[in-house]
Amino acid sequence: MDSFELNKVMGAVLGTCLFLLSLNIAAGAIFATHPPTKPGYEIAVQEQAGPGKPGEAAPADDPLPVRFASADMGRGENSAKKCVACHTFGKGEPNRVGPNLYGIVGRAKASEAGFNYSAAMKGQKGNWTPEDLDVYLANPKAMVPGTSMTFAGIPRGKERADLITYLNSKSDKPADLPKQQAAVGGAPKAQ
Ligand code: HEC
Repeated sequence: MDSFELNKVMGAVLGTCLFLLSLNIAAGAIFATHPPTKPGYEIAVQEQAGPGKPGEAAPADDPLPVRFASADMGRGENSAKKCVACHTFGKGEPNRVGPNLYGIVGRAKASEAGFNYSAAMKGQKGNWTPEDLDVYLANPKAMVPGTSMTFAGIPRGKERADLITYLNSKSDKPADLPKQQAAVGGAPKAQ
């Protein structure tokens, strides 16, 4: 191979390189890349409401009136066994670790005579509506931080509805619990 032929080969290689380089520049101009303003991917997750399948963690509860519509007094009485270590339910029965709960649905909060409520409970306003009882019994410390009721709570919404139905029966004047049939095809979905 003489030097002239070598020059031709080198020229071809160089020419190809130049061609690829210009192609790259041209492509960059045509297909401009826009760096994302926020790093990472955006993932749209659809939140699901309504009753979950068995085994799923913390399914969303149906609205309280829907749960009352299918509540069961017997199951509620059974559930109330979780409370008897600290509470009595009968009329005129004494306070224990916790106050007597006769007539608790509709009763003013922290109002049982002779019971020494925590400052946190004394600070609660109004009466024990079914809705407030539902929230308190789900997680007492979440609703009343500093409450002296050392009870973890009842996570299952249906059980709370059973229990409140039972509590409501322990009264001179049981309240009219709001009841609403679940919509056909499951609970009304929260959008
Ligand atoms: C370990 C004892 C204990 C258990 C178990 C317990 N409680 Fe209580 N409960 C208390 C105490 C103590 C208070 C007073 C809370 C305060 O003053 O902060 C209380 C307060 C309450 C109140 C508010 C009463 C009022 O007059 O304002 C309700 C309602 C109540 N409990 C319901 C229940 C129910 C229903 C259960 C069973 C699912 C239960 N508790 C289980 C100890 C207990």
